[in-house]
Amino acid sequence: MALHHTTIGDVDGLLDTLLKAPSGEAAPFGLKLTLKAMADVDALIGGLRRHRPGMATRCVGVVAVCPDADVRAAVLRWPGRIACPLTAVADVAVADGWLAGQLAAGPRGVRPRGGSRTVGLSPAIQDWIEAAQNPPPDAIAADIAHQSRQQFGDSARMCIGEDQGRFLQLLVELLDAQHVVEVGTFTGTSALWMARGLRGAGRVTCFEISDVPLTIARAAWKAAGVADRITVELGPATDGLKRLPEEPCVDLAFIDADKEGYPTYFDLILPRLRPGGIIAFDNMLWGGSVVDERVNDADTRTLRGFTQRLAKQAGLRVQLLSIGDGLTLVRRA
Ligand SMILES: C[S@@+](CC[C@H](N)C(=O)[O-])C[C@H]1O[C@@H](n2cnc3c(N)ncnc32)[C@H](O)[C@@H]1O
Repeated sequence: MALHHTTIGDVDGLLDTLLKAPSGEAAPFGLKLTLKAMADVDALIGGLRRHRPGMATRCVGVVAVCPDADVRAAVLRWPGRIACPLTAVADVAVADGWLAGQLAAGPRGVRPRGGSRTVGLSPAIQDWIEAAQNPPPDAIAADIAHQSRQQFGDSARMCIGEDQGRFLQLLVELLDAQHVVEVGTFTGTSALWMARGLRGAGRVTCFEISDVPLTIARAAWKAAGVADRITVELGPATDGLKRLPEEPCVDLAFIDADKEGYPTYFDLILPRLRPGGIIAFDNMLWGGSVVDERVNDADTRTLRGFTQRLAKQAGLRVQLLSIGDGLTLVRRA
């Protein structure tokens, strides 16, 4: 394993060399770069994107040392949109410590998704939060993340982080939820955590359009002893949600699929949500894009408009939490 210090001008060449070996044969590595100006940020993001598949499987993390606060803020808007954990810091000692920790954890310790690290949080605070958790890190969730990286590369960043998973489990427990709905299951991380919180006859019903990632999910659910609490409805979530009983039977819904579908999923689930029940929408910060006026793609516009709509709608308690990539909780009065 190696820690490489480089300049922005050298990063493309260095990555070419590091990533030349076929996947699985080369050691994981971490990168540290000093970014002095805004132009350096664009160059960094471009370089990482060009090497996306290799970065997703081999790179344990990139630290951008940014003496300038504006440059640092610009870098911190990017977690969740690139293939490996990216952190901006001012303090070089913190950068070295964080990267050393990532390398020591090895590829299995790498969080596959920037969004699993809370947007804008410093590495030291993130590490502190993770060290404070009890029980200790979960081997099955880590294995899902690892297998997702192996099979899906960059897309593995879609798995929610352990802090968010634990929070969802807590929500299931606090609501004493019996009927949990999930829209967007992928390789099964969020369903795993929510199923763990169920008591008695409680069930998670998952809506997922693709059966390919479900092989990893089903094996993990079996290993965790929760497979019998989870049902998957394969196909577009809009069709599946319409098949649910038209009565307030849902205690908790977790929405983590296509962003343009969020308003429709909300409209379909709200009448089926019991009073006091909660709908949780993931990625509501969208890697910081929602506040970046240079970003105006359809997903970002939908998330902005949906956020504004929720803030105005009567009969709801709405709170956007800064965990992961932003989790909006909507509670029906
Ligand atoms: C962000 S991932 C879900 C991650 C998952 N919650 C986890 O924690 O690992 C989004 C998933 O939504 C699924 N998806 C996208 N559009 C969908 C749709 N219209 N209906 C159902 N699932 C959809 C994708 O196939 C993908 O697996």
